[in-house]
Amino acid sequence: VSRSIGRLLKRGDAILLTRMDHDGNVGPWLHLVEDLGLEVKWLNFNLETYEYDLDEAKSIFKNNNVKLAAINYASNCLGTINNVKALTEMAHQSETLVFVDAVQYVPHGPTDVQDIGCDFLACSPYKFFGPHQGVLWGKTEMLEKLEAYKVRPADNTSPGKFETGTQLHEGQAGTLGVLEYLEWLGETMGAEYNANFPEFSGRRKKLHAAMLAIQNYEQTLSSKLIEGLQNLAGVDVKGISAGKDLARRVPTVSFTVENQNPEEISNKLAAENIFVWHGHNYALEAIRLMGLEESGGVVRIGPVHYNTLEEIDHTLEVLKTCW
Ligand SMILES: Cc1ncc(COP(=O)(O)O)c(C=O)c1O
Repeated sequence: VSRSIGRLLKRGDAILLTRMDHDGNVGPWLHLVEDLGLEVKWLNFNLETYEYDLDEAKSIFKNNNVKLAAINYASNCLGTINNVKALTEMAHQSETLVFVDAVQYVPHGPTDVQDIGCDFLACSPYKFFGPHQGVLWGKTEMLEKLEAYKVRPADNTSPGKFETGTQLHEGQAGTLGVLEYLEWLGETMGAEYNANFPEFSGRRKKLHAAMLAIQNYEQTLSSKLIEGLQNLAGVDVKGISAGKDLARRVPTVSFTVENQNPEEISNKLAAENIFVWHGHNYALEAIRLMGLEESGGVVRIGPVHYNTLEEIDHTLEVLKTCW
């Protein structure tokens, strides 16, 4: 779809990319920049708060010919949940299109494209407990306007023009299955949260209730994990850490340990059947901005709603033996 959006851009136009995004929302745009002779305006994040400076974003939109902003909802490295609604409002004041990468956010909170107001939003069902499919939501008028890179016999109506070829029906069934699972969560463990959404009904209400229940539960995981990590010698948590601010992050927690190699720590955890990631996690720009590329990036622990406080305790106990 980056190629299709590229058809709306011309040499000399600018696009806004961020230093926080996964490369999935950077690399394809950089190729487009090269192909079309565009300019890149980088939105940084603050190395102390791990958040964007909205004034910096405002000034980028105001002072440049930015035609597209590719931003992330939540960072898969820092865990920050970004104010994508405020960024979208700002962008639209300058008639800038907004493409949101919500891959990291969707498993951790309610996602409402109407509320955000963005033009496009992408996510990956395997991150929210389903199969390996790709999901792109776009405003109807935008999807109709874009020219799809498709086979010639396929007709030119959306969304089908972006899905040519034989569809992955079993994947679609699996994605529906995970939505039904989340609905069930909304009816059962999220029952008390249904009252928070009097304006919604049916599946939409249940999904919102489920995601709110997940969000509240996951904050207990974040809190235990971050506090426990901060009590370990030499640990530096690379993300929002204050107890009062945990609502502004997902429980994906990255950290470094003084004089320790992230890969070695991950291997020691793996030997105890605790599976985490190390390195840049494809958030190349974020790791570079933090100056961690040479030293092997970070260790990243990414609990989700089916993990328990006991598992966090156990992970922290094992970590105590890792260096
Ligand atoms: C924020 C973010 N964007 C994009 C991706 C890439 O998604 P996919 O694995 O579906 O290509 C990931 C995967 O980790 C991600 O975390």
